Amino acid sequence: MLGDMAKKVQVRFLPDDKTIEVDKGTDILDAAIEADIYIDSICGGRGKCGKCRVIVQAGDVTAEKTELLEPGEIKKGYHLACLTKAEGDVEVLVPEESRVGLLQILMKADVVEAEKLDPPIVKFYFELSEPTLTDNLSDLDRLKRSLSDHGIEDIMGPLPVMRRMSNLFRKSEWDVTATVVEDGECHELVHLQGGDTSARNFGMAVDVGTTTVVAELVNLSSGEIVAKEAAYNKQVIHGEDVLTRILHAEEEKGGLKNLRMLIVETINYLLKEMMDEAGVRRNEICYAAAAGNTVMTHLLQVAAWMSPPAFSMLPRTRLRNRGGRSSRN
Ligand code: FES
Repeated sequence: MLGDMAKKVQVRFLPDDKTIEVDKGTDILDAAIEADIYIDSICGGRGKCGKCRVIVQAGDVTAEKTELLEPGEIKKGYHLACLTKAEGDVEVLVPEESRVGLLQILMKADVVEAEKLDPPIVKFYFELSEPTLTDNLSDLDRLKRSLSDHGIEDIMGPLPVMRRMSNLFRKSEWDVTATVVEDGECHELVHLQGGDTSARNFGMAVDVGTTTVVAELVNLSSGEIVAKEAAYNKQVIHGEDVLTRILHAEEEKGGLKNLRMLIVETINYLLKEMMDEAGVRRNEICYAAAAGNTVMTHLLQVAAWMSPPAFSMLPRTRLRNRGGRSSRN
């Protein structure tokens, strides 16, 4: 019904000069997040840290009382973004001291050259011999015979890959690229493509920081870093430090799921930017590795079997150290 529709208002952020339309009554902190403007919010918008200071320059707002602002600051228009709601169109200045860190510093970080290129996932191109009456190996054994020239003696072939194998081999006239992942002693065939795609084997490395997330797209065949991007971790809307995130996961309904969704969104955003920058397609990215502190990595891979109270018990040990893996076809 028309009467139930929330009235929209505009919030303009300065000095960025970004304007966002939000529901009337939205707090300034949430509006800033929607506008991709990151305001310091250590307490996660609970009105306790006093970090989210902004100056309301014009417009109609309502603000909860706080002792974290001096009377002199209030006179100058200072408000706490998390305790201030936009009741009409407003103009807000975000002072430098209220902004979260500088991404450029991260982007300029030194790259340490790897001594040896030894990726966990490798693409092999083979011109397989066609079967004959005297060489009538099965398709999988035919591939295994070629892989054994590279020291790979046994390999698992998951069902989705096996389903495509027969057709693909014949359609590509036995010229194929096999993508093989190594996991300890085991090798698994995770992808098969017609023709030679061995030079297009990309992996993504992600550093999942509490405040910022930095990602690199690497050509695993040459070692070249083809793209690099950084962004604020979208979870900062629920607090800038790990403890506030833990509180959000434990105390808010759906909090854990929400935190996971936000880090996945952040990584997907970085991935899209890097793919566009380097001209890499999604199906050319075969591997991803993510690192971060215990809480960040658990929030990334959180599933039903990982209960949030484990986070708040010291010492915060990991459930497991190695990540999961999945094949895609
Ligand atoms: S007081 Fe607003 S985020 Fe902490």
